[in-house]
Amino acid sequence: MKVLVIGKGGREHTLVWKIVQELRVEKVYCIPAGNVGIEQLADCRSISLETNFAEVADFVEAEKIDLTVVGPEDPLAAGLVDVLRERGLRAFGPDRKAAILEASKDFAKQLMMKIGIPTATYRTFDNPDAAIDYIKKINTPVFVKADGLAAGKGAIPGRTVDAAIQAVRQVMVEREFGAAGDKIVIEEEMIGEEASFTVLTDGTYCLPFVSSQDHKMSLDGDQGKNTGGMGAYSPAPVITPELHAYVMESIAYPTIDEMRAQGRIFKGVLYIGLMITEAGPKVIEFNCRFGDPETQVLLPRMENELIPVLEACIDGTLEEIELKWRREAAACVVMASGGYPNPYETGEVIMGLKRANALEGVTVFHAGTKGYNGKIVTDGGRVLGVTALASNLKAAIDQAYRGVAEIHFDRAHFRRDIGYRALERRNEA
Ligand code: AMP
Ligand code: GLY
Repeated sequence: MKVLVIGKGGREHTLVWKIVQELRVEKVYCIPAGNVGIEQLADCRSISLETNFAEVADFVEAEKIDLTVVGPEDPLAAGLVDVLRERGLRAFGPDRKAAILEASKDFAKQLMMKIGIPTATYRTFDNPDAAIDYIKKINTPVFVKADGLAAGKGAIPGRTVDAAIQAVRQVMVEREFGAAGDKIVIEEEMIGEEASFTVLTDGTYCLPFVSSQDHKMSLDGDQGKNTGGMGAYSPAPVITPELHAYVMESIAYPTIDEMRAQGRIFKGVLYIGLMITEAGPKVIEFNCRFGDPETQVLLPRMENELIPVLEACIDGTLEEIELKWRREAAACVVMASGGYPNPYETGEVIMGLKRANALEGVTVFHAGTKGYNGKIVTDGGRVLGVTALASNLKAAIDQAYRGVAEIHFDRAHFRRDIGYRALERRNEA
């Protein structure tokens, strides 16, 4: 069969890496072109994802592609899956009506409130003055969030009244995230440890993945600014079997059931961003696609072929699938361009990829890379996800950092403490 993957980041390189290994797959395509890691495995095409998707659908028809797997949230929220399905083409991911669960934080919060899913208390505003009055009135640490999609960077901490007011201005007046900031959600700050809970669903049945954890902040010790994600590991010991059962029963199923009741049948990945607080787990956000960089640590641990699992989601037969996972742990360290998530330079030559990939258990997933004059150069904020699989988490983290040590590009930035919470937990035990 022929498979098309949409997206060109680290998550999509990982999807392509997994899919090319599968028995029934004869060819993998990717749109758009650019990522060198993906180009080494797939036939990449520079087709725009900005417009009405007709060109993508024409391409799928012309190449007789059997399945399209959509990686990022933007084309899902803009209805790429709807366009493909209307033409009778198979596509993995939620349609536009279902993707709103990620595309509007206000929608997600309303849904959670309606069905009693634990989450931070919040208010939604479409006017900065009203938002600022509210911040002054409550005078507690908050998070200010653009309602719409902002590449994972739309949540700004406002731990003081001044910082929160500045965040409102940044989103609503300076419009840093464009129309995504027409509305904002202001919510109380939750204290605890985060975890990513990934569930596949066919709209009725929910199939959980193993746990993982991301590191959203740019600097060690969770300091600095919010990013798309600076590293990840799996399993995340913070998700105990009891918590796992609770999340499935009290968060995943009620959410999918409510979506179905609203005529929004959710087929695809439901990513539940959790804060494990003293009062129990609370939902930070829902995403409608695989996490990035969580995918880089989940798929290497997956023993099943992915395509049959994704097809079962589309066909509504997910209940028949049993997932098998390798016992090894995985860790991913993201190497980013110096300055990220603020403006950064690109075009730095990357050295040492072969040496890193040659280390036992190490795979370097590309995110922002491109080919230039026969060299591989940086071409984005997050550049690489250096991933290692090893017998336990400590060994996986150490091996991932050995991979990082082999790689060089000017002003490379990475966190040196990926997995620290899990290691602290281990040391306490
Ligand atoms: P979001 O864009 O909603 O996923 O938020 C991005 C990141 O901001 C999360 O992964 C958390 O680290 C942090 N965050 C968002 N909302 C809250 C909150 N209410 N309390 C504490 N941290 C939060
Ligand atoms: N790693 C967080 C996300 O994918 O949204």
